[in-house]
Amino acid sequence: MIIFKKTRDLHKWLEAQRLAGISIGFVPTMGALHTGHLSLIESSIKANPVTVCSIFVNPTQFNDPKDFEKYPITIEKDIELLANAGCDILFLPSVKEIYPDELSSSLKYDLGYLERIQEGKFRPGHFQGVCMVVHRLLEIVMPDNLYLGQKDYQQCMVIKKLIALIGLSNAILVNICPTLREPDGLAMSSRNVRLNEDERIKATAIFRNLSFIKENLTTGDLKGLKETALRNLSEAGFNVDYIEIADANDLSIIDDWDGQKKLVALAAAFMKEVRLIDNILLN
Ligand code: PAJ
Repeated sequence: MIIFKKTRDLHKWLEAQRLAGISIGFVPTMGALHTGHLSLIESSIKANPVTVCSIFVNPTQFNDPKDFEKYPITIEKDIELLANAGCDILFLPSVKEIYPDELSSSLKYDLGYLERIQEGKFRPGHFQGVCMVVHRLLEIVMPDNLYLGQKDYQQCMVIKKLIALIGLSNAILVNICPTLREPDGLAMSSRNVRLNEDERIKATAIFRNLSFIKENLTTGDLKGLKETALRNLSEAGFNVDYIEIADANDLSIIDDWDGQKKLVALAAAFMKEVRLIDNILLN
């Protein structure tokens, strides 16, 4: 595996691959890698002769400074995991390399209602930060295939929208990979290491209640079902931002189901200081 720290060097190396007609797969991450991240790397390796992974803890997407400060960093282990997985390139840029100019906080990307609901609503500015960094990374890597996890369902929609906004929809194919889970159902997440033993056990309530929604889904009014799931999650020790049922295509909230629409249940909740998110498709 080759490690690049400088944008210019990576860009030059990739340009040579592109000129040789080689397809490039790209997996952007913030490191503290786990099996979920590695499954994206694996998917990319299967479909592309060159796989690039980036590790960059992007300061502009953290709306909570404490979350940024406490974001786990395990770079030595990450490098070993990526090399063993067969990743070709690791891009490990500094903040200056990604954001050479001073950071402006102006809202640059018109994400519409995606920015006003669920993650957008509870993490103001978060998706602007995600767009800033992904826009920059895409310009540097110019992949043929981009790999994202369904775990961050709304982020997948935002990044697809970003790609359309910057006119790259025909150049980059977005591949959405399934959420990998621990044996007890907890979605793998870099933030899980911040949970203590007791919190780690309680944390399974998110997946349990998303599954509860799936098992009890019926046509008609869904409000009661959502309320029960919300109550269960709170009783399990979570401070809940939301647990919602939404249209899987556009994330609009569904309170009354026609029995036809594709649905997704999504949740975001704090276990003490640690904010966890998860989702499952319902039908
Ligand atoms: P990060 O949280 O490190 O996640 C990197 C990628 O791994 C994302 O596409 C995410 O959805 C995926 N992923 C995380 N947990 C997963 C799991 N349990 N199963 C499968 N895939 C999983 O998401 C980000 O970083 C950042 O916002 C980023 C896109 C890199 C921009 O900074």
